[in-house]
Amino acid sequence: MCGIVGYVGSKPALDVVIEGLSRLEYRGYDSAGTAISADGKLTVTKRAGKLANLREALAGTVPPDGSQDGNTGRSGIGHTRWATHGPPNDRNAHPHTDCTGAVAVVHNGIIENFAALRLELERRGHELSSDTDTEAVAHLIEEEVAGGASLADAMRRVCLRLEGAFTLVAVYSGEPDLVVGARRNSPLVVGVGAEENFLASDVAAFIAHTRDAIELGQDQVVELRPSGVTVTGFDGRPAEVKEYHVDWDVSAAEKGGHDYFMLKEIAEQPRAVADTLLGRIGADGRLSLDEMRLTDDELRDIDKIIIVACGTAYHAGLIAKYAIEHWTQLPCEVELASEFRYRDPILTRSTLVIAISQSGETMDTLMAVRHAREQRASVLGICNVNGSTIPRECDGVLYTHAGPEIAVASTKAFLTQLIAVYLIALYLAQVRGTKWGDEVFAMIQLLGTMPQKVERVLETVEPVRELARSLAGERCVLFLGRHVGFPVALEGALKLKELAYMHAEGFAAGELKHGPIALIEQDLPVVVIVPSRARPILHDKIVSNIQEIRARGARTIVIAEEGDEAVAPYADTLIRVPAVPTLLQPLVATVPLQVFACELATARGHDVDQPRNLAKSVTVE
Ligand code: F6R
Repeated sequence: MCGIVGYVGSKPALDVVIEGLSRLEYRGYDSAGTAISADGKLTVTKRAGKLANLREALAGTVPPDGSQDGNTGRSGIGHTRWATHGPPNDRNAHPHTDCTGAVAVVHNGIIENFAALRLELERRGHELSSDTDTEAVAHLIEEEVAGGASLADAMRRVCLRLEGAFTLVAVYSGEPDLVVGARRNSPLVVGVGAEENFLASDVAAFIAHTRDAIELGQDQVVELRPSGVTVTGFDGRPAEVKEYHVDWDVSAAEKGGHDYFMLKEIAEQPRAVADTLLGRIGADGRLSLDEMRLTDDELRDIDKIIIVACGTAYHAGLIAKYAIEHWTQLPCEVELASEFRYRDPILTRSTLVIAISQSGETMDTLMAVRHAREQRASVLGICNVNGSTIPRECDGVLYTHAGPEIAVASTKAFLTQLIAVYLIALYLAQVRGTKWGDEVFAMIQLLGTMPQKVERVLETVEPVRELARSLAGERCVLFLGRHVGFPVALEGALKLKELAYMHAEGFAAGELKHGPIALIEQDLPVVVIVPSRARPILHDKIVSNIQEIRARGARTIVIAEEGDEAVAPYADTLIRVPAVPTLLQPLVATVPLQVFACELATARGHDVDQPRNLAKSVTVE
């Protein structure tokens, strides 16, 4: 939520900052702005709307001889905004400056005590011109530097006064070769180059320049100069930092010939699934998840599992419950992370809490992790972004290897989260012993074949695109499923809501007669996910449900495994997926629903990479 970039070096800072922002636009696109430092002054440019508006405003601000304009400086900061305080207009766009224009600040997060700080500043004669919580910080820093503090000292002192979650990055006209950043509960990474250094919310912003990065810890301040990087705590004491090398390159963060990142990411799923399995299934057919950091003894002591997550990751958690309870016989609850800490969850030392998060930065999930750890439960993260906050705060972590997911709607991250939960469920069964020993062994082998199965779905998905285009004028689509098909239905509906802005609901098919069947009317499109015939008790029930809705005029779109002829007479459109055991079916059944939502939204003229009102990582509660 909100993307931040900072740069110092020998290149024109504006180019580096704008390029970085273009890679972070997925984090928010309500407005964008830059502050470039040159010749003892800051040049601030900002515009409401997408980055394209800022680019337009900046066009021509750098004269060919490079001599006249402040935007030619070699250090600067930039921001792409997802609005929290104040509407998305030019005035509320970041960077924010103090009255003198000497200090410019960009911010991600929420400063909870901003109203009190603002009042205090106004009493001292400051005039604040925006509705944001950020502007107060620029004024507070300016007061400090006016009193003789360096920018870094000013940042440290001000941070100690702030409550809430924040990443702040600032420049000061009096120290032109310096960019200062600070973080608490919000992401900020350092990119280390040769005679140039970078700050960003995500390594994608600087990956074209360097793959050497530094993870910043909680409550740390970083000073970025061309010659090096210094990190301290808010108290000014030198801090230990962790350096790492990013294992993907710039091509992974580009569209690779696809019209949208979402299409590219859907197409990448076989590779993402394979990468997430890589090195985890041994030659003896047993799983090895040593990197998880939880010992087998710790796993044997668990007597209950609670999964916390949001949105699509929550749907992965719902599917995990079926797998975990079946293979391990451990009770498993799944909870929306945003609700978890507001009830009184019963946690003990033998409870394992699993937090699922693509970004590793979702504030609701992070708060649930902290709450679980305060209650002394063990916490295991399933995350995609290496070094992000959630895995750092968990006792153990299993990384998915989806690669960077840029499109706001999650696709390949979801499939790899499913792989991760299957691995954990099967590993628990392996170390604890289970009555399903043979099945567990067979499932581990089957997991290894899933990349090919997902590939086959993608090869046969063209009719789904045609179907989606034919439904572009519809107002509502319903999704039905049973067992793991129910969370798949929820996921199909979520994708359609967020991308096509259509009314879409997912229901457990068994609940139909308890109310939702009243929604069925002539020609209403209803997507039904049919479980494998290997579970006749589930399969036959859903075939009856399809007949019930068809009898009431619904247009049935049926997702069923290859060879399932029993459903054919009741399907207006039949979408085939490879036959796999029911528990693994979400891996193949979700893919047509992603394609369906993406194509339908495109047919309605929407930007599927940047749906309205959304941001990729939700770093506020
Ligand atoms: C939907 C989507 C969101 C995220 C949710 C959690 O397509 O992407 O629902 O799944 O915001 O995000 P992470 O996984 O980063 O915690």
